[in-house]
Amino acid sequence: DSTGITNSGGADFIVVANRLPVDLERLPDGTERWKHSPGGLVSALAPFLQRNSGAWVGWPGVPDVEADKFSDDGISLHPVRLSAEEVRDYYEGFSNGTLWPLYHDVVATPVFDRAWWDSYVKVNRRFADETAKIAADGATVWVQDYQLQLVPSMLREQRPDLRIGFFLHIPFPPTELFMQLPWRAEIIRGLLGADLVGFHRPGGAQNYLWLARRLIGLEPSRGAVGVRTRPGVVQVGDRSVRVGAFPISIDASGLDATARSREVIQRARQIRADLGNPRKIILGVDRLDYTKGIDVRLYALQELLAEGRIDPSEVVMVQLATPSRERVEHYQRMRGEIEQVVSRINGEFARVGHPVVHYLHQSIDRKELAAFFSAADVMLVTPVRDGMNLVCKEYVACRHDLGGALVLSEFAGAASELTSAFLVNPHDLDGVKNAMESALELDPAEGRRRMRALRRQVLTHDVDRWARSFLDALQPTPEQII
Ligand code: ADP
Ligand code: G6P
Repeated sequence: DSTGITNSGGADFIVVANRLPVDLERLPDGTERWKHSPGGLVSALAPFLQRNSGAWVGWPGVPDVEADKFSDDGISLHPVRLSAEEVRDYYEGFSNGTLWPLYHDVVATPVFDRAWWDSYVKVNRRFADETAKIAADGATVWVQDYQLQLVPSMLREQRPDLRIGFFLHIPFPPTELFMQLPWRAEIIRGLLGADLVGFHRPGGAQNYLWLARRLIGLEPSRGAVGVRTRPGVVQVGDRSVRVGAFPISIDASGLDATARSREVIQRARQIRADLGNPRKIILGVDRLDYTKGIDVRLYALQELLAEGRIDPSEVVMVQLATPSRERVEHYQRMRGEIEQVVSRINGEFARVGHPVVHYLHQSIDRKELAAFFSAADVMLVTPVRDGMNLVCKEYVACRHDLGGALVLSEFAGAASELTSAFLVNPHDLDGVKNAMESALELDPAEGRRRMRALRRQVLTHDVDRWARSFLDALQPTPEQII
């Protein structure tokens, strides 16, 4: 190989992601402990890796941690250190102040800052170097998400022996929006280092292929990309790069079993009692992110209450919101707005001891979350843009009783799979209100019919099937082996 780096004792299967599946938490008394990391990427990949031996290269979630590799739940973890300045410029800056809003339809205005870009390049190189060091000869490396789009090319330069896959967990934007990025060609080229580039939806793959032609002058295939089938192909010198669509999912049977446990069933009953045994419970569960449309559902609730279409003595809403990216300005602003609407609704419609909205700015453990899903009559998932959204699939997986109703945004990737949900346009407040009302008044037989259809989809398309379809497509085709 070109650099002389080879590694016969190294790992055969490596996931590379910005975050490790566990985060280091520094408590005020100076002690430290590891806890489950937030977000859909970790929720999906951690159970898959626990069942299949592998290594995970990632950042421990706090600056300046110099930690040795260690093992957790059967996964070998390789921490990558980021300085406080890199957390600011690469993570909060370029990843979450530039790429996140740009890729989510510019619902917030992306900032283009050259120092942030420099930091992104430098940190991507560090992830590539770390991976090159630990990968066995001919290993499979699976690079994840928008924070690491330069890693595939940087890794290939050092280790052409590796099989490299890349998967984007967030939407890939319309080409007109992507073209705003000053470093657009660098990103497209960075991904071309992979053997397979995966998106949730065929549209993302198609946009990427168009950009490879327009920005790099390559000649991609022209046929329509299918879901899990018919990937597009771009020839880069003597390599072919496949570009496909692989909608991600959850550990559906694991969650189904959790929701069926006596402990969770009892806890769900307790939650309902703690809320005062209301006729209906509405639930929202999200990272506190401006793409999730938490404000949309609160405004809809407020108007339904004001119009007398929802009776505050019968209906309670619970909003669980995991703290997220708290130092980024957009997140601070939206947290303020949401907390203001919550208190306005309670100020106007609550009685002493009976708030209408219960808002928890906290992360909840998996069993407790399953109990909330089991207790909720109406689940509101209303993002203005979401690559997939796993929360709606988790809700469905928990409803073995065929109870509950799902209100789901058309702008979540999951909407093309979960067509028996009440699909809404989150920009159309009247539409959202009507769907909430229909879901609250749903005829039980019709509800069971819808939930049965949703469960058929989620339980047969779980995260193992997602990972297997991606990793199968990553294998060389017979002519490449020759
Ligand atoms: P994203 O990846 O943008 O955060 P997803 O819906 O794909 O959105 O995944 C979110 C994951 O985080 C899900 O697994 C969900 O259960 C979990 N989650 C969201 N909010 C909470 C919360 N308050 N407590 C615990 N887990 C949460
Ligand atoms: C989304 C992204 C992940 C990210 C997660 C949590 O799921 O696709 O890459 O890890 O959100 O966000 P955070 O910034 O806390 O890692």
